[in-house]
Amino acid sequence: MNYQQLFSLQGKTALITGGARGLGKAMAEALAQSGANIVIADMEVASAEKAAQELASFGGKTLGLQVDVTNEEQVKTMVERIVSEFTELNIVINNAGICQKITVEEQSLEDWKKTMDVNVNGVFLVSKYTGKQMKAQGGGSIINVASMSSFIANTEAQCAYNASKAAVDMMTKCMASEWAGDRIRVNAIAPGYMKTDMTKPIFAPGGELAHVLDLVPLKRLGEPYELGGLAIYLASEASSFVTGSTFIVDGGYTIW
Ligand SMILES: NC(=O)c1ccc[n+]([C@@H]2O[C@H](COP(=O)([O-])OP(=O)(O)OC[C@H]3O[C@@H](n4cnc5c(N)ncnc54)[C@H](O)[C@@H]3O)[C@@H](O)[C@H]2O)c1
Repeated sequence: MNYQQLFSLQGKTALITGGARGLGKAMAEALAQSGANIVIADMEVASAEKAAQELASFGGKTLGLQVDVTNEEQVKTMVERIVSEFTELNIVINNAGICQKITVEEQSLEDWKKTMDVNVNGVFLVSKYTGKQMKAQGGGSIINVASMSSFIANTEAQCAYNASKAAVDMMTKCMASEWAGDRIRVNAIAPGYMKTDMTKPIFAPGGELAHVLDLVPLKRLGEPYELGGLAIYLASEASSFVTGSTFIVDGGYTIW
């Protein structure tokens, strides 16, 4: 067995939603370094285009697109555009997501629906239209971004977020089951507390969530690149016997 070849994404095309920054951008870089063409689709089109341009330095073809994953027409148009530019779509990372810290008592129905719309309906819509394309072309790999909060009632006031990420874990299993016969594998990555430009100040000394670092057995935040190896594994043939699984990457947070 040639293991380097097994992990190669040469000639494959990957879509990363919400990939303009943060964890999505880091996973996009990992796939780009493994040879994939990269499509970054994000609400923030200027940042998506910038990220796509940066990733072109790894040798693949790249494209930055505007999409709101909650908008069915935009999702359909995005998939059509990708297929017209790249012929096939082999890998999808359903990464776009939002997190609001609000107690149940204080949360408005509108805010609750907003979280569900992006984190649950967005994953549904992108999977539906990319899955149809993958089925037509003979297979692919869908990677959903869940969270360790899919499995624990995380300490902060984020019931909507935790419930939405629990749904992503179940959607991963259901989609894997529905598409198993079509050579489409569906798995999920469940990060713990990760250090991105957005979260860094919250976890810094004196920050709103500084105290949670004591609860992480490895006593630190995860770095975005620490999701990259798993993203390559799940995107590639190296994980050809893996479907319907959610992989927790949390520095041990959920073992205590
Ligand atoms: N950062 C963490 O500690 C952490 C931990 C566990 C899970 N996650 C999950 O990882 C994913 C990425 O998190 P992050 O910290 O990089 O977030 P982030 O806020 O830094 O980036 C999210 C990106 O998604 C885009 N986006 C938001 N709504 C969108 C929509 N409707 N359509 C298209 N794009 C949209 C934003 O423009 C942004 O570029 C999310 O699903 C998040 O829930 C993050």
